[in-house]
Order: sequence, then structure tokens, then C-alpha cells
Amino acid sequence: MALLSIIVAPDKRLKVKSTRVERVDDDVRTLMDDMLETMYDAPGIGLAAPQVGVTKRIIVLDLARPDEDPQPYFMANPEVIWTSDETAPYEEGCLSLPEHYAEVIRPVAARIRYLDRENEVREMDTEDMLAKCVQHEIDHLDGVLFVDHISIVKRSMILRKLTKAKRSDSKVSA
Ligand code: NI
Repeated sequence: MALLSIIVAPDKRLKVKSTRVERVDDDVRTLMDDMLETMYDAPGIGLAAPQVGVTKRIIVLDLARPDEDPQPYFMANPEVIWTSDETAPYEEGCLSLPEHYAEVIRPVAARIRYLDRENEVREMDTEDMLAKCVQHEIDHLDGVLFVDHISIVKRSMILRKLTKAKRSDSKVSA
């Protein structure tokens, strides 16, 4: 397994629509494993392939608390096939927008269809934090970040701060 580097916004590679996976084979499984290791290391609770520079429809998640056993999900071609009418705000963060958080309103429950690690089609009913997290990760596959769901004023502020942080980082390493 290998740690991958996570792309930080603003970056054009995060705005690309990813392509479907034909089948979950050993190459896809290796990528899933590397993504999961990268996510645990960050640490985070979800990661989408475009965040590590791969424009394929693959996400990994694990919402287990530190005192619980790991509960990883590996999903290829995940699709939201149903959402609840009920929505709620939830504070979201993202490994590609480090240290920035904002409330995003999304459906509180969603049914997801995806290919699992063994290339089997699965359907899963999600709610609350898992539902929010899956929707957030699927958004990444369409080039959508959580800041695209908030006001333009807030979004610009966050992106400006991230741009500034990138500039000062490059000065240090130069
Ligand atoms: Ni994210």
C-alpha cells in the first residue's frame, strides 16, 4: 500500500467529471486500498479518487469512531438512486479544503447503488452522517466541492484563504 498526495483547492483537477469504472479488478482494488490508507493517515472519514488525481468514479469511507473497529466502505460508480424529502444542515469539511468548514444542507437519507470491492452490485440505505458523507464524496466525482453548495461570499473567502496558504507554502519550500 502507498500513501497518495491529496490535491488542495483551488485546483482544476478537482473540478473534473470522473469516468465510470468498467469493472473492479486488482488495479482498482489497489487504488482503493491506497486511498483508504491515505484517508486514515490524513485523517479523514471519506476520500474520492479525483482528490488523489485519478478521475475515476471511486470513493472510500469509514465513519467508525476511534474506539470502534474500522468499518471501511469501498465503492465504484456510486449513484444516489433515492433521497429523502427531509433535509438538514450539517457542518462539512474536506481533505481538499483543509481547516475550512461550512454548513451544507442535504437530504438526511439516501439510497446508494454501487459496485463493491468484489465487483458486485450493491444497494445501501444510508442516513444522517453516512448519508451526508456519501453525497459529499459522490459530488467530488462530478467536480463539485462542498463550498459549491454555500454562498458565493463564503466560498470566495475560503478559496482566497487557501490560495494564500498555497503561496506562502511555496515560498517556504523555494
Ligand atoms: Ni471532500
